[in-house]
Amino acid sequence: MSFATLWESLLPIGRDGLSGGYRRFSWTPEDAACRAWFTQAAAERDLRVLADNNGNLWAWWDPPGWPGPGAPGGTKAVVTGSHLDSVPDGGAFDGPLGVVSAFAAVDLLRERGCLPVRPLGIAAFSEEEGGRFGVACLGSRLLAGAIDPAAARALADAAGVTLAEAMAAAGHDPDLIGPDDDLLAAVGAYVELHVEQGRALANLDAAIGIGEQIWPHGRWRLDFTGRPDHAGTATLADRRDPMLPFAAAVLAARQAAASHGARATVGKVTAEPGAVNAVSARVSAWLDARAPDERTLETVVGEVLAAAREAAAGHGVELAAGPESVTPAVVFDQGLRERLASSLAEQDIAAPLLPTGAGHDAGVLAARVPTAMLFVRNPTGVSHSPAEHAEPADCAAGVRALATVLEDLACR
Ligand code: GLV
Ligand code: MN
Ligand code: MN
Repeated sequence: MSFATLWESLLPIGRDGLSGGYRRFSWTPEDAACRAWFTQAAAERDLRVLADNNGNLWAWWDPPGWPGPGAPGGTKAVVTGSHLDSVPDGGAFDGPLGVVSAFAAVDLLRERGCLPVRPLGIAAFSEEEGGRFGVACLGSRLLAGAIDPAAARALADAAGVTLAEAMAAAGHDPDLIGPDDDLLAAVGAYVELHVEQGRALANLDAAIGIGEQIWPHGRWRLDFTGRPDHAGTATLADRRDPMLPFAAAVLAARQAAASHGARATVGKVTAEPGAVNAVSARVSAWLDARAPDERTLETVVGEVLAAAREAAAGHGVELAAGPESVTPAVVFDQGLRERLASSLAEQDIAAPLLPTGAGHDAGVLAARVPTAMLFVRNPTGVSHSPAEHAEPADCAAGVRALATVLEDLACR
């Protein structure tokens, strides 16, 4: 099996020498290197590679004698994959484990002498983490028509470069982005393998799990605008300091999450102009909130925004707040899920059902295509961190599980 070779060849790309974490942001040189890696892995396996209009990569193993996409009576494809981009200083596994396992599963199917009777695709979706342009699962959202292409083109990174500019600089025509109904109509099932981002499998002593549902979740941006002033001379009473309502919002997020069994995180904040010896002019913060159901999510976000507004008013600070991306609750396709469970059970692979608070392209695509997920045990549960890990034996179990599922879905 080729997992280790493929894994080692991807590992150096975009790794930060100091933190040991990954900085693979879309449409950067690191992203181009990941794309070249994907193209080479596909070419080594005689797979047909193409980038769709949204910059997602696809590698196709066409069945012998297949008449091509769109042919009358053409059978629908089975697709697996994940993403290659990362959060800032992310781990090696979140995303790449699914893509590397997909290529390794193709190798294993070939070793087993399996031939697909329907097209088998491997996808690497662009900007899954929203690490550069702020909207999670941007590539799959565009493909599925879940975001307005004009709004997507205007998304800007921290340096003010828009998605349109970044795509154009990388040789992709941004005017072509948007839903691709023909491509989606040709896909009968999408199965994403992913490292688990929690400790449920470790607690259950299982190497592999099956995704049951994804919590509704989203990102909200809060801009607090105050009045810059001198840190030594402005009296406390005279200040309009945006840092104070920002701090109140962070504490409210923790409080709201704790009281509703949810998650709320402020992981990114900027203060302008950033002088040590001045009251800030503006503080911008991003709230990431997730909950077991949509009503609870609304309640949590409502409480945080209410606390932020109240604190802003109390300090003479303006607050502008709104969602950047929101993903509704997803329950994975029950028929596909049960089919995964029974093909794994036939091979004596125990795979408990797991809900997750992490977002995935499979969750976005679920609105258009039957989707399912496989999770691979993460012994500490830590993710979005250089410490993210999965043991080699569990990665190998993941490849075997994925190959088993793909054999059932695509080769019979
Ligand atoms: C993606 O990993 C997310 O859940 O934010
Ligand atoms: Mn992630
Ligand atoms: Mn991921």
